[in-house]
Amino acid sequence: MATVKHVENVPQTQLDTNMAKTKPVKLGWKPEQIDKISHALNSVLANYNVHFQKLRNFHWNVTGSDFFDLHLEFEAQYKEAAEHTDEIAERIRVFGETPFSTMKEYLDESEIKESSSTQMDSDLMVRELLSDYRILLQYLSAVVQIASEQHDAGTENMIKGFIKKIEKHHWMLSSFLAK
Ligand SMILES: [Fe+2]
Repeated sequence: MATVKHVENVPQTQLDTNMAKTKPVKLGWKPEQIDKISHALNSVLANYNVHFQKLRNFHWNVTGSDFFDLHLEFEAQYKEAAEHTDEIAERIRVFGETPFSTMKEYLDESEIKESSSTQMDSDLMVRELLSDYRILLQYLSAVVQIASEQHDAGTENMIKGFIKKIEKHHWMLSSFLAK
């Protein structure tokens, strides 16, 4: 009969409560693997949060004949961005690491830059968002690559779902500009 190999220092039964209390389960990841995955996820988190606030900014400040369309579209997108960033941060916690959680960290670590809150043409808003998507997609692709190298299917699947949605937003806002 094949013997089952247990991960070391992890409680072997549900009843091993003493050990469960003192030794958090490590899920079998090596520290260097956790480091690579959580760093890549934190880079996405920083960029995504700056992008999220930009969507809120544009939702509030858009004007002109596109107001009703864009006001609603930006709201739908920032709600989705809020869900995605929550999932990314919680995935980092799954590995026992700390997600970037302050505005300062997001601004310092993000390649996506804030837009000003002064009046901006709606086409320019859309072009800004298209640029954000392209940056986000690069960071998301990097996570897929790293997660796949570490055989981290959970992170890989989560991020692939985000990529599909952002690619669709990119198509739709590109089409909006092609009027
Ligand atoms: Fe609103």
